[in-house]
Amino acid sequence: MKEPSSASKLIKGLEGVVAAQTSLSDVDGENGRLLYRGLPIGELVEKSHFEEVTFLLWFKKLPTQVELENFKETLKAQRPLSELALRILKIIPTTTHPMSALRTMCSLMGSLDPRAHIVNPEESQRKAYHLTGVFPTIIAAFYRLREGKEPVQPDMSLSHAANFLYMMSGKIPTPEMEKALDVYLILLADHGLNASTFAARVTTGTLSNLYSAATSAVGTLSGELHGAANQYAMEMILEIGTPDRADSFVNKLLDEKKKVMGFGHRIYKTRDPRAEAFRQIAADLCVKAGKTEWLEIAARVEKVMWERKKIPCNVDFFSAPVLYVLGFPPDFFTTVFAASRIAGWSGHIIEQQLDNRLIRPMAEYIGPQEQYYVPFEQRK
Ligand SMILES: CC(C)(COP(=O)(O)OP(=O)(O)OC[C@H]1O[C@@H](n2cnc3c(N)ncnc32)[C@H](O)[C@@H]1OP(=O)(O)O)[C@@H](O)C(=O)NCCC(=O)NCCS
Repeated sequence: MKEPSSASKLIKGLEGVVAAQTSLSDVDGENGRLLYRGLPIGELVEKSHFEEVTFLLWFKKLPTQVELENFKETLKAQRPLSELALRILKIIPTTTHPMSALRTMCSLMGSLDPRAHIVNPEESQRKAYHLTGVFPTIIAAFYRLREGKEPVQPDMSLSHAANFLYMMSGKIPTPEMEKALDVYLILLADHGLNASTFAARVTTGTLSNLYSAATSAVGTLSGELHGAANQYAMEMILEIGTPDRADSFVNKLLDEKKKVMGFGHRIYKTRDPRAEAFRQIAADLCVKAGKTEWLEIAARVEKVMWERKKIPCNVDFFSAPVLYVLGFPPDFFTTVFAASRIAGWSGHIIEQQLDNRLIRPMAEYIGPQEQYYVPFEQRK
């Protein structure tokens, strides 16, 4: 078969193309709804927590009490970073972007696992526990090293979210902070065939292992059209500085045909249900932190975006101030996204392995037709 030559077959960005089947999450763009294994995210945010949601995503059902306790223990056991891994983390320059550090460490986890190369769903499940358990430790340790501080050992008595915050600051978080991060981890855990999940599935499709697939996913998440939008959304709010500057700032970006970070979505064209969930949490946290100007700036940015482009905000817009108030520097935001999405990536990787076929689309060739090799002396 020859790669196609007809431009009519090309679907740029694969928009609208169905490239996989999944039973993890149902992204309903028309109605602005998101369900994990059939359960609406709003209900999960209200009644559940990240560990239980991860169980749901991986094992297709809500756990019994005993199953949940065992699950939490297995995940907790993965929290410590080995001495060798910590030594290697310490030699990564602190000027490295945190997403690059996480990508490097994710790959390193594979180098340090003697069973990394074994590819089957059971082995992948074990690796999924490992990466999901250890990601917050890697992120917090890199943050503290960058601050010139020693990493904080994980506290096994704390939940996944509370321990993450504890390892960042060295302080036990308030229940409100714990809940805010937990909500973040729940809401970002899975989202259909988004770009990083697609990358993970493409890598898995070659029968490569979960560490490789997760490393592909972390790299894919780090771009600003995907995961890094949260970093840039916060940096924009900080750069705007005061509400009276917001309108002209956004208008200028739009006049220059630039993207406003934290707005727009390939699937959600009316509302991103996750963004709505963060609106109230952002309001509560910003008021408490005495940063109401961020809310005013956000409201004005939103208004201009709606008036000029009819584009609603996405999950990254209001979750940005939430992460900032929780103590994450903007350039760490996308790592927190990864610490959540590793749950979904893992579920998709195993789903792909259970019904695998190599993912290999085609490219329309638009280069020159057959040419002759020209010797150096005849080249211009
Ligand atoms: C997410 C995103 C990549 C979806 O992209 P997409 O489905 O490929 O849509 P496009 O980039 O083709 O945008 C369609 C139109 O909306 C405009 N648009 C989309 N998002 C925009 C944004 N954030 N700011 C300004 N204009 C935007 C585009 O400029 C384009 O306008 P045009 O038709 O006049 O050229 C896009 O909305 C974006 O870049 N958003 C900013 C980054 C972001 O927040 N990413 C996180 C997503 S959860």
